[in-house]
Amino acid sequence: MSRRPPGGARRPASARVDYEQHGRTYTRHRRADPRIASRIHAALGDAHTVLNVGAGTGSYEPRDRWVLAVEPSATMRAQRPPGAAPAIAARAEALPLDENSVDAAMACVTIHHWWDRARGLAELRRVARGPVVIFTFELERLPEWQRQYLHEGLVEELPRFPALDTVATALGGRTRVERIATPGDCSDGFFEAFWRRPERLLDPAVRSAQSMWALLEEGAERRIVERLSASLASGEWDEQHGHLRAMDSFDGALALVISEPG
Ligand SMILES: C[S@@+](CC[C@H](N)C(=O)[O-])C[C@H]1O[C@@H](n2cnc3c(N)ncnc32)[C@H](O)[C@@H]1O
Repeated sequence: MSRRPPGGARRPASARVDYEQHGRTYTRHRRADPRIASRIHAALGDAHTVLNVGAGTGSYEPRDRWVLAVEPSATMRAQRPPGAAPAIAARAEALPLDENSVDAAMACVTIHHWWDRARGLAELRRVARGPVVIFTFELERLPEWQRQYLHEGLVEELPRFPALDTVATALGGRTRVERIATPGDCSDGFFEAFWRRPERLLDPAVRSAQSMWALLEEGAERRIVERLSASLASGEWDEQHGHLRAMDSFDGALALVISEPG
């Protein structure tokens, strides 16, 4: 597949993670969390036909509706489980569908990877007759210890994540934002999932299913891991943040931006 974005421009920083390489271990540590899934499915309303863009391995796709997936990476498409919805090789920025051809469209944990976000979001709005549901993160709301320990990574990540009102404006229609608390035992291993389980980030297999690490300069991942590991071993982390271990969920970065036709 061509690495050139639509229009032939150079690949922007937002598209630096190559899922043909990076996505190989995705299914092991990135399984849809049922509590997050139920919020996404509720936001889809009574839609019978749903387009899932940047669908990856199929996380968060409803099983009780007709679904078509759009996913540019063959590595990710190959990890879709038996019985998952069919997936076509395309990108958000140029959806091969007619206007108003599906009841609803969704995009989960993907817009920060798109070459042209505004164009992709407008495409979702164009093809959906009903709601468009975007599941994304507001990184400023990550737990304080993650903003502290993952600083080098977040410097790279922050420019990739648009503000929620920018997403809403690009979608158009009638928009609203819904927050989702991150469960303490969240099964989808994005980094906020480990807000009360910091040890899990020391596992290279967990990190390999998180795109942030692929953005770091040489040596930065080792420095972050050593810092966190030392702080856990000395008890410093627990002294400062140990109260988190007793909490069930964290009101942090997870958000849905939902657009209904205007
Ligand atoms: C973090 S994964 C999320 C996959 C899935 N939605 C989930 O929630 O697990 C990001 C996905 O976005 C896809 N992607 C990257 N650029 C894209 C684009 N321009 N249009 C559509 N999908 C894209 C990647 O190939 C990858 O599968």
